[in-house]
Amino acid sequence: MEAILFTTVLLLASHVLLAAAAGPSVIVVGAGFSGISAAKTLSDAGITNIVILEATNRIGGRICKVAFAGINVEKGANWVEGVNGNAVNPIWTFSNQLGLRKFRSDYSNLSSNTYKEEGGLYGAAEIQSVIDTGDEVYDAGEKYSKSLSNSGFGDISILASQRLQNHAPSSPAEMVVDYYNFDYEFAEPPRVTSLQNTVPLPTFANFGEDVYFVADQRGYETVVHNVANQFLKTSKDGTIVDPRLILNKVVRVIEHSPGGVTVKTEDGAVYKADYVIVSVSLGVLQSKLIEFVPRLPEWKILAIYEFDMAIYTKIFIKFPYSFWPTGNGTQFFLYASERRGYYSIWQHFEREYPGAHVLLVTVTDDESRRIEQQPDSATKAEAMEVLRAMFGKNIPEATDIFVPRWWSDRLYKGTFSNWPIGVNRYEYDQIRAPVGRIYFTGEHTSEHYNGYVHGAYLAGIDSANILIRCVKTGNCKYIVKAKDADD
Ligand SMILES: Cc1cc2nc3c(=O)[nH]c(=O)nc-3n(C[C@H](O)[C@H](O)[C@H](O)COP(=O)(O)OP(=O)(O)OC[C@H]3O[C@@H](n4cnc5c(N)ncnc54)[C@H](O)[C@@H]3O)c2cc1C
Ligand SMILES: *[C@@H]1O[C@H](CO)[C@@H](O)[C@H](O)[C@H]1NC(C)=O
Ligand SMILES: *[C@@H]1O[C@H](CO)[C@@H](O)[C@H](O)[C@H]1NC(C)=O
Repeated sequence: MEAILFTTVLLLASHVLLAAAAGPSVIVVGAGFSGISAAKTLSDAGITNIVILEATNRIGGRICKVAFAGINVEKGANWVEGVNGNAVNPIWTFSNQLGLRKFRSDYSNLSSNTYKEEGGLYGAAEIQSVIDTGDEVYDAGEKYSKSLSNSGFGDISILASQRLQNHAPSSPAEMVVDYYNFDYEFAEPPRVTSLQNTVPLPTFANFGEDVYFVADQRGYETVVHNVANQFLKTSKDGTIVDPRLILNKVVRVIEHSPGGVTVKTEDGAVYKADYVIVSVSLGVLQSKLIEFVPRLPEWKILAIYEFDMAIYTKIFIKFPYSFWPTGNGTQFFLYASERRGYYSIWQHFEREYPGAHVLLVTVTDDESRRIEQQPDSATKAEAMEVLRAMFGKNIPEATDIFVPRWWSDRLYKGTFSNWPIGVNRYEYDQIRAPVGRIYFTGEHTSEHYNGYVHGAYLAGIDSANILIRCVKTGNCKYIVKAKDADD
């Protein structure tokens, strides 16, 4: 007991000493939005002795434009989600300051744009009634969710809450509407997703129900560059030239002790600092890419592995000309297959990318895994078959296809985190909790907004502030709210 107390005092003393001197040194692993936002928050607090180690040759991580069919499209995040509510989403503010070109996505006419597997549209009234039933079941689930105690012990899956209403989607029409309602947002099916932690979803409850599609040729990543440029040196053409950002450094080992951290990269370089902030994705943490020495404690490993890294695949397909309906209320259309989630959700870009003749179809989860492993030619053939079912035999063959592979990529291992049933608030907060001198950030550590761009941005600020408090006050205790605390 006395010995433990003694080390704690020593630790506190060394923290205070560091604060009094030039300030501590901090390594940030990863230059996605959360890493950049964490580094800027440290910098604003006077902690400028920072090194950011990023595995790729760019900043932005999962916010990433790619050239396709003569335009730039977004391979990762595309929407500002949570707009026009009571509180203002910080990403909405940034996107307006930067004048990002964006469009509100209008899903209100899906009932008139849902195709049968064998071809032809469903009657609008039929689909509207499926949508209305889904909404009623959702509202009942929301009431049920609010009645659950915060301990998380009563949590059930979204599917279980549907069953409680005697409604488990089964026909192709019911499945496609259900897929649109849940998988299209969480990238995992309702049988996996926690009711308590996603219904209602804080993003929409706090920031508003609207979503805006970013279609700016500078890329959605402009929001990340804008934050980076406020604390990293840039040249006249906007390139970051600050020596504290080091690209093409894949971190493989993080050694930590009460005295400091040592970070080793794949190319044999070694970096030492007082602290490290790890911002890599949950999928990377669940892989063996980074070895922690000594091992992370059991509670930490359990929390990391219990949470879900979901997969959301945006397949862009280019045609010689547009053959789909255009005009108001046609942008989003559904394909109701007997196979749940089989090329279900389609979007055209008449407004966003006029003249590009590009469609986007979104798949998730098992379909994503399957599609990542097959050649793009096979995916193109499958998509063409679905399109022919919807629009007839005479449509033109696609000329180009882009299939992102976030799951296979060792630097991501998926697209964003999803809250599964079985993880309570206490365990979730443990994902963010520091371990000694290792701090954690990333969308998966966001207090309320895991899975989103704003989640990553806000998590960077929050995690940095935990470290700043430790450095400035010597109070390095991080308390995760107890399991049975009812807020
Ligand atoms: C396909 C897709 C669609 C999405 N759609 C939306 C959307 O429409 N709206 C929305 O709000 N959100 C969306 N998101 C989620 C959003 O993009 C993420 O929540 C956010 O960008 C994550 O930021 P981050 O900093 O937490 O992680 P990341 O962006 O993953 O940053 C981590 C960084 O660490 C680097 N790294 C990994 N391993 C190492 C290593 N060993 N050493 C050094 N560096 C390493 C990575 O290269 C990366 O740059 C989407 C994501 C994807 C992928
Ligand atoms: C489409 O919607 C816009 C905005 O709501 C409106 O201004 C326009 O007149 C509509 N166009 C047609 C053809 O209905
Ligand atoms: C809804 O979609 C149908 C079919 O594409 C279209 O004809 C109709 O104009 C749309 N209605 C509205 C209100 O946008």
